[in-house]
Amino acid sequence: GEQVYKYYADGEWKKSASGKSVSIVNPTTRKPQYKVQACTQEEVNKVMEAAKAAQKLWARTPLWKRAEYLHKAAAILKEHKAPIAECLVKEIAKPAKDAVTEVVRSGDLVSYTAEEGVRILGEGKLLVSDSFPGNERSKYCLSSKVPLGVVLAIPPFNYPVNLAVSKIAPALIAGNSLVLKPPTQGAVAALHMIQCFHLAGFPKGLISCVTGKGSEIGDFLTMHPGVNCISFTGGDTGIAISKKAGMIPLQMELGGKDACIVLEDADLDLVASNIVKGGYSYSGQRCTAVKVVLVMESVADAVVEKVEAKMAKLSVGSPEDDCDITPVVSESSANFIEGLVMDAKEKGATFCQEYRREGNLIWPLLLDHVRPDMRIAWEEPFGPVLPVIRISSVEEGIHHCNASNFGLQGCVFTRDINKAIMISDVMETGTVQINSAPARGPDHFPFQGLKDSGIGSQGITNSINMMTKIKSTVINLP
Ligand code: G3H
Repeated sequence: GEQVYKYYADGEWKKSASGKSVSIVNPTTRKPQYKVQACTQEEVNKVMEAAKAAQKLWARTPLWKRAEYLHKAAAILKEHKAPIAECLVKEIAKPAKDAVTEVVRSGDLVSYTAEEGVRILGEGKLLVSDSFPGNERSKYCLSSKVPLGVVLAIPPFNYPVNLAVSKIAPALIAGNSLVLKPPTQGAVAALHMIQCFHLAGFPKGLISCVTGKGSEIGDFLTMHPGVNCISFTGGDTGIAISKKAGMIPLQMELGGKDACIVLEDADLDLVASNIVKGGYSYSGQRCTAVKVVLVMESVADAVVEKVEAKMAKLSVGSPEDDCDITPVVSESSANFIEGLVMDAKEKGATFCQEYRREGNLIWPLLLDHVRPDMRIAWEEPFGPVLPVIRISSVEEGIHHCNASNFGLQGCVFTRDINKAIMISDVMETGTVQINSAPARGPDHFPFQGLKDSGIGSQGITNSINMMTKIKSTVINLP
């Protein structure tokens, strides 16, 4: 019969006892492309037990050896970049070249994490008691970082490989075991990536990957008593997870409405190229995409004109042909984007291009003269449509940015470094980029969102630390 990709547990590829599968629809053809197992709750229980047992031994495996396994996995991942990238093209319509880049970036992330891990986890602390009032030097406190236990990783569809390894590698180097629940779109790419970890020879049960329906195993996984940490990237579901999860550390990244503030003295060519790159790469399906342009009225016409000229050069079509703009991930996503566009149209926004859609493919669109009463001024389209709001003062721009319930990143374009720093200081976002579009990478930089954009901080170093706990031993001298 038809192939159903197996899930990964106990170091083996398995069929689910459910006998059911979940089908993955290719966003371009809108036809079923792959099938994965619909795992049961019982199978999740088994995975959790195995993960717990494997973790105990793994935590005692020397740090340098853990790093060696990760370096091996990184090399294998890079060797297999072509078949993995092909899955990304078919499952999430990522442009062919970007799909390869995602895998290579992931290999680099895994090796960097191994290197960073041996250094930061190889270091502990010694405190002496007599620095606190009333104490003699009678106590030595030795502290080091120990693993949390079982880490549950839930990456989103837009980076099924990269945002999986950004959770897997820190978890493993720190001595944790790892359970991956990949997104349905992107599950097969994730399974291929897991195969690379399998080939690297990690102990059985240490890594597992369960696929299935959110309704069946979603809450069951996130509320499972065997889970000691959740690292999640995605949408609103993260807010629900944070309310249901137990008393465990959470790392969350839940989207954004990243603003691009353009001042009068900005380099307008630089602005335009960053708006196009930031707003439209991977068809706007990045949490760090530029999602609203706040431009000073005096330079707005010039900026819009330059952006339009660059947009005219974007190729629109299939991911296999490496087009710049490719179909968005699902029909429901395309419908949602269209809803935002139509709302803006009814309320009087200016369309810089004609709105055009075929199936899940939406042509890139710039909406000028957007006002705060339009939904697109606040909501995240996750598509190739970008609103421009004209502002008459910097304060107006900052006010709009800070009135958002999101607070991931933002960017400001100006040649005046003092103004840039002033704006960065008052912008309520986890990161502010000066003279460049928002981006998560380089992957060792801290990455975090304020407000509804997330909990905690990511980036390689922060993720390793987040997936550990401090353990101390106090030596009491006589
Ligand atoms: O979609 C969210 C990602 O963390 C964004 O990563 O800035 O590398 O596209 P990126």
